[in-house]
This record gives sequence, C-alpha cells and structure tokens, in this order.
Amino acid sequence: MVNKFVQNKYKDNSYLEDEVFNALELANQDNSPDKINGSIGSLYDENNSLVAFHSFYYNFRQLSNIQMAPYSSPRGIPEFIDAIGLNLFAGFVKYYNGFVTPGSTLALYMAISNFVKEGDFVLIPDIAWSTYETIIQESHAQVKTYEMFQNNEGTFIDLIKQIKELSQSQKQIVIIINSPGHNPTGFSYSTVQWLELIAFLNTIKENIILINDVAYIDYAYSSTSKKYFKYFEASNDNIVPIVTYSCSKSFSIYGLRLGVLFVIKRNNELINAFIRSAQGIYSASNTGAQLALIETLKKEQYKKERKEYINLLSRRKDLFITKANELNIPYYPHNEGFFITVPLKNKIIEINNYLIKNHIYLVVIKQGLRIALSSVSLNKIEPLLIKIKEALDEFK
Ligand SMILES: Cc1ncc(COP(=O)(O)O)c(C=O)c1O
Repeated sequence: MVNKFVQNKYKDNSYLEDEVFNALELANQDNSPDKINGSIGSLYDENNSLVAFHSFYYNFRQLSNIQMAPYSSPRGIPEFIDAIGLNLFAGFVKYYNGFVTPGSTLALYMAISNFVKEGDFVLIPDIAWSTYETIIQESHAQVKTYEMFQNNEGTFIDLIKQIKELSQSQKQIVIIINSPGHNPTGFSYSTVQWLELIAFLNTIKENIILINDVAYIDYAYSSTSKKYFKYFEASNDNIVPIVTYSCSKSFSIYGLRLGVLFVIKRNNELINAFIRSAQGIYSASNTGAQLALIETLKKEQYKKERKEYINLLSRRKDLFITKANELNIPYYPHNEGFFITVPLKNKIIEINNYLIKNHIYLVVIKQGLRIALSSVSLNKIEPLLIKIKEALDEFK
C-alpha cells in the first residue's frame, strides 16, 4: 500500500516488493532442522554462520573513536581509493579516478542519475538485480532490457542490436553490464566477448556510458578475469567506462556501506560533477571502514582468507552442477559468484510454495528461482536439488 503522503512514483502504484527480504523473513521464522536457506546474498560458512573476515575486523577494531568519528571527505581517503584501485585493476588499467560511495548501490545511483535526461532509456540485462529498475525510476529514466542469453549462452548480440536501435533516437546511452559473477546467474562474459563489444562501441558516434557492475569480481576464479579492463582504457573518447565496486561482498562488510565509483581514462571534471551531486544525496561515506581497509589490503592475510572462501564457493558450484546434471535440472550458464538460477517459465510461485513447505527458501525472480550458493553448505546441496527436482516434476 502506498501512503497517501508519498509521491506516486511507481507505475503500478506500489513499491517493488523485495523478494529477497520476503524469503529471508519466512526462513527466519522456520526452526526446522531440515531448513535450507538459499535466499541470502551474503557469504555463509559450512557451519551456517555469516563470514566476517578476521583480517578486516581486526584492523577495524584497532581504530580509536577519534579515528572513526570524523566525516570522510566526499572523495574518500586517497590511500583507500588507491588501495582499492590497485587491488581491483591488477595492472590492467593505468588511468582512472575514483571516489568513495556508501556501498556500490550509491555508486550505481550516481552513475545512472548523473547521465540520464528525464525519459531516457537505460539498457539493463533482462535477468538482473531488481534494484537497477528502482534506481532508473528514481532517476526519472526508463528501463529497456537486452537479452542476456541466447540458446543458453551469454551473449552481447542483443545488447549491440539495442544500442544500434536506441542510437537513432538518443544522443547518450547508459548501459549496465553486471559481470563477472552476474546476479542472479553467476555468468561472466569472456575477455573475447568484451573485446568485441568495445570494438563495436568504438564504431558508435553517440555517447556511451558503459557501467560495469563488478559487485562479485573478488569471487571470480580465473586469474584472467580482469584482463578485459584493458579494453576500457582503449575505448574512444565518446565512451565513458565506469566501474562500480562493492566492498560489501569483497570484505564481508555489507552493513558498513562502502563502495567506489571508478571512471576509467582519468576524467577529473566528471569526478568533480559527481562529488557536487553527492553532497546533496549522501554527503560522505564511512571513515572507519576506509581506514581499516587501507591496513587490510597491505597484508597477505586478507588474500589468504578470501581465497579459502573462493575455493569453498568453487566446491559448492562443482557439487551443484554435478548433481543438477545428474537430476536433469536446468540452470542458466554459470561461471562464478554467489548465485545460480534455475530457469522457469510457468508455475514459479507454485514451485516456490512447494519448496517452502519443505523448508527450502529461495528467491523468486521473473525468470525462475535464484539459489544463493553463498549461503548453502555443501551437505545441503544434494537435498536441495532433490527437492527442486520433486517440485519440478510435481508442477510439470
Ligand atoms: C549485482 C549487484 N550490484 C550491486 C550490489 C550492491 O551492493 P552494495 O551496495 O552493498 O555494495 C548488489 C548487492 O546485492 C548486487 O547484487
């Protein structure tokens, strides 16, 4: 229900229901020992406890009150931006500027809202994190989706087609690509696919704002997963590559709210414009978390700790895929990251209700059921898939 005092911003007269929090609430009320909660987009260990990296929280607790209390500058602490930039771009990008945001949600908001005019279309994947739509609506723009998968393969074919079409009517086009480890499928575009996309964008005259949401990049398995960044730097001047980085997942600090918006190819004027706008939106970001992260990134311990969890996710993924294949359960192409999605065209709600009756909590999306590998321990993967199979057979 919309409160009568609130502006009617949303077409359907209601706020988007957050399926993640709905599932989470139901799961929290269930005390069954058989409960499997695959709805949480945070990392849980094999004892079903939320992972909180010691390497970060040790440094956080070393800070004095006086260190944590002050406002951070709106740009952020320079050593923090440098440390994140070095870690993220791994030498594949030389020229970039960045500023801190309260989580990458705000980085995405700043990137979208500052580049769209009222009514503009923003291109997002047809299967996507639902918050993109909210941010686009908050920015008075409109959503246009591109097909992310064709013949069960991730592709830029439809994105390219849609950019060509939109360039007939729009002088500046904002596009969002969530890779590696796309939410909700875990799909990652390959280096070659990126190369082809940038080569195409270099043929376009209109301005292109290429937003790459890398919220799950620190859980990518391949050492070449960052290689594609080098093409961003080689793009034409009418292309503005923006990378939105989330510290939530990478350092298990979801609640401390920290992210970075990077603009590739150094563009100080653009950063100044963002900062000006940030002053009226959120002012500044968490000081203590930035200080602790500077220290965390100086030591090897963090990398070791994260590697352990990357390996754990990889084992969960391998087991999931082996068992899903054995049981003939379909899933969207998955490379890495926190999520995997079972595609469903019909009876999604019925299937989900069947699973809830069996103490299984997943997230309903338009195109299927999202399973958070990040929150399902290895011993629960087979029982989860057996129940999913039962549900699929029941509602065939
Ligand atoms: C794809 C994607 N992008 C961005 C975010 C935002 O994360 P945060 O604002 O915590 O950095 C999330 C969080 O779930 C996400 O799934």
